[in-house]
Amino acid sequence: MGVSDIIESLSHNERRLLLALEAAGGRASPAEMISAGKFELEVEIMGSASWLASKGLAEISESSERFYVLADKGIVESGLPERKAVRAIDAAGGSMDMVALAEALPNGEDKIAVGWLKRKGLADIVKDGDAKTLKLTQKGKDILSADMEDEVLLKRMASSPVSEKDADPKLIKDLKGRQGMIAEEIVTERTIALTDAGKEALAHGIELKDEIVQMDDSVIQSGRWRDAEFRRYDVQTFAPAAYPAKKHPLSRLGAEIRRVFTDMGFKEFDDEYVQPSFWNLDILYIPQDHPARELQDTFYLEHPAKIHIDDEKLVETIRNIQENGGDTGSTGWGGTWSRDMAEQALLRTHTTVNTIKALAAHAQAPSKYFSISRIFRKESIDATHLPEFTQIEGFILDDNANFDMLISLIREFYSKMGFDQIRIRPAYFPYTEPSLELEVFFNGKWMELGGAGIFRPEVVAPFGIDKPVLAWGFGFERLAMLKWNITDIRDLYISDIDDLRKNRIL
Ligand code: PHE
Repeated sequence: MGVSDIIESLSHNERRLLLALEAAGGRASPAEMISAGKFELEVEIMGSASWLASKGLAEISESSERFYVLADKGIVESGLPERKAVRAIDAAGGSMDMVALAEALPNGEDKIAVGWLKRKGLADIVKDGDAKTLKLTQKGKDILSADMEDEVLLKRMASSPVSEKDADPKLIKDLKGRQGMIAEEIVTERTIALTDAGKEALAHGIELKDEIVQMDDSVIQSGRWRDAEFRRYDVQTFAPAAYPAKKHPLSRLGAEIRRVFTDMGFKEFDDEYVQPSFWNLDILYIPQDHPARELQDTFYLEHPAKIHIDDEKLVETIRNIQENGGDTGSTGWGGTWSRDMAEQALLRTHTTVNTIKALAAHAQAPSKYFSISRIFRKESIDATHLPEFTQIEGFILDDNANFDMLISLIREFYSKMGFDQIRIRPAYFPYTEPSLELEVFFNGKWMELGGAGIFRPEVVAPFGIDKPVLAWGFGFERLAMLKWNITDIRDLYISDIDDLRKNRIL
């Protein structure tokens, strides 16, 4: 763009600002232009200034300075506690008992005073048996007739803010350490300066005309349109990028998954994060010596440490199933089942606890439920593991449910999410038989996406269910990684928008 095109593109206010800068000798702060009567509002100036800057005609520079002011306005008047103490000791003849000082400076002020008397070397503490006496030092006597350095600084702050540059940093540090005495103020100064291009434009001549920016009926009725200039549209002009609010990508993915399941006739359910081991583990026929019970795998809670199971009949049923299979036809795990262990509180390690609770509550066939919810495992954090993550869980209780149906449901779900290349392999879970796990080839290796299976009788019999129940738990974050080709799971939870953008998540 040539100079005349740029001039042509200038709004009324931009022209005004250029002329005001010229009149100010090429550079000015918004405050100076306001006091020179050129403008009324700082926002008006800064708005036009950034347009001029984007067109290369002006430059905006910013500098900040830290100032200190009194937070406790009365401190200069009343005096520092150590000053009051020095006066009191002097009035008592140069030495004073600690107990007497406490009476002279009530409400604990004596303690503060003694601390500073020692630190500043204003008084010595002399022990005489149990009694302690404060004795003014020479320095202590000297300050009776002169201000201390920190007092001088406080007085300056009382009359006007003191710049960081004009104060001893050590004194500032001490005063900042004294509760509520001084406060910081950051003052930012902006300066707008003409660039060479700005000067060139001015040399060309800038005309100030009445300009119509917005068209409305008053412009027509008043006849103003006849003489005024209309602001031209410039579709190529710079405009700052606007990023309106958006849902977090993981929330959007959650909504998409929710939609897939609800379209297939599933209902959503959830439960509490805090569960007794009983529901999270025992009911799922996980033996009490299973590694998942270990402290290094599970977050157990201290408050509450235990959650009482108040269904005695269910407790007995589970005890029998765990020890000898009860009447499920199973042999159980043997040994002695501990109710104490089952009542330990934990952060749920899988949402299969939701599934079994929902089954316990809605044991009627047919039913189909899903959940997308947070779980907790003591994992060390790395590119594919987080200690808190999300599972896509669900179950189908149906007379006709079978393993083929489970596999096709899994394939259908992943294909709806855009992934056809998943591998399904036999697996083991204490609560399902048969069991499977699914994986996907990603970033050079097979990544586990989740597990599934048909619940064993040991799990469903206590709720009177003798129909097949298909169940699964898939990793939500890992699906997100696949979807956006993200190789580090931690990137999903970065809350810095710029980083999210850099990683192409947003
Ligand atoms: N709970 C299993 C896990 O967390 C997944 C699963 C759910 C497996 C349901 C079988 C049935 O990995």
